[in-house]
Amino acid sequence: MKLNRRRLLASLGLTLLGALAFGCNNTGGDTSATTGTTGKAGTVSNTGGGNGNPQSGDTIKVGAYLSLTGSEADFGKQTRTGILMAIDKINTAGGINGKKIEAVIENDEGDAGKTANAVTKLVSQDKVVSVLGEIASSLSLRAAPICQNAKVPMVTPSSTNVDVTKQGDYIFRVCFIDSFQAYVQAKFIAETLKLKKVAFMLDSQSAYSQGLGKEFKEQFTKMGGQVVAETSYSPNDTDFKGPLTSIKTANPDIIYLPGYYKSAGAIATQAREIGITVPFMGGDGWDVPALFTSAGTSLEGSYFSDHIALDRPTPALTAFQQEFETFKTKPGNADASFGALTTLGYDAMMILGEAMKKAKTMDGIAIHEALAQTKDFAGVTGSITIDAERNAKKSAVVVKIVGKEFKWQADVLPQ
Ligand code: PHE
Repeated sequence: MKLNRRRLLASLGLTLLGALAFGCNNTGGDTSATTGTTGKAGTVSNTGGGNGNPQSGDTIKVGAYLSLTGSEADFGKQTRTGILMAIDKINTAGGINGKKIEAVIENDEGDAGKTANAVTKLVSQDKVVSVLGEIASSLSLRAAPICQNAKVPMVTPSSTNVDVTKQGDYIFRVCFIDSFQAYVQAKFIAETLKLKKVAFMLDSQSAYSQGLGKEFKEQFTKMGGQVVAETSYSPNDTDFKGPLTSIKTANPDIIYLPGYYKSAGAIATQAREIGITVPFMGGDGWDVPALFTSAGTSLEGSYFSDHIALDRPTPALTAFQQEFETFKTKPGNADASFGALTTLGYDAMMILGEAMKKAKTMDGIAIHEALAQTKDFAGVTGSITIDAERNAKKSAVVVKIVGKEFKWQADVLPQ
């Protein structure tokens, strides 16, 4: 990843700043945003029948709840950078009909209880007009009813589980959904790799992992494939040798591991320790450089599906990378973090900004109606149209892990 970016930047004639931090551990604050910690939140004051949080002050508050610490911290940090980049861009260009956007960012620590508190605080105390988040589907599922109930539109940049937007008509996303992601993975295994036998290793606590397992099995068996073992783990586990031994006995051609980066890396490492040599197939949850902290070289030659291939510059991605370099040099942005989730966070906030510009007022109904009309928005991650189910129809990519880099292999168009 680093090498890729270095090459990309070199081709742009830019120098890579030594301080560039990919998924760094810096959790410092941003001067450009009001950041808070999750405090004790009260009850949602405008429960049902309300109309979001129309703004009366000089700024318009947009909330975000993200995992800025904990085992998914790299997801949150990249997403935060993307959101702040978009807000910076919108504000520099004059804001929303003359008013500047003010970000209120809460750290949910990747925890379901803290997520509920964070979102309740954003909606009922900070009175934000709209909420961005989460990355992990389980956390978006936790937050969505709170936003729906308060009629405060929620836009998730990257939660792909099919049920997320089914929580209500105020819940949107700017990414594809997992029935499609599973199809992409199944098609690649069956048609490109021409492999038949797959063993599952799913995260039992994650709606994302469970949902993908279900969708994948359906798609893959339709394509003539076979699931030869179905095992699971819990994200707090450190010893995965039990399920891995069952997988070894089942003798699969490839292991399906749609979890998040930290456990995925540890699982792959232990698989190699017990002599499993076949590759793994993961999903977007692998996409941070920190994958290699736990994986080392054990995922070499493995594949995962994703939203964007950063090693394949498009004009939009190249422009975005330049924008990131400039953003990072501004005061308070030294800990800015670049990756696929940065692009998704940016697209989510840009789409929300467009909807806010089009909405006649800043109340929940007006913003939600404008969001629903998003059509052919030219995002960094592709052209984005919000469909009737408030999902984005977009193509996906498959990448291969080669020497700690993510190498683009294939594009798969929406079904
Ligand atoms: N799609 C994942 C989920 O729904 C989140 C994710 C998206 C993680 C993109 C990394 C990159 O839980």
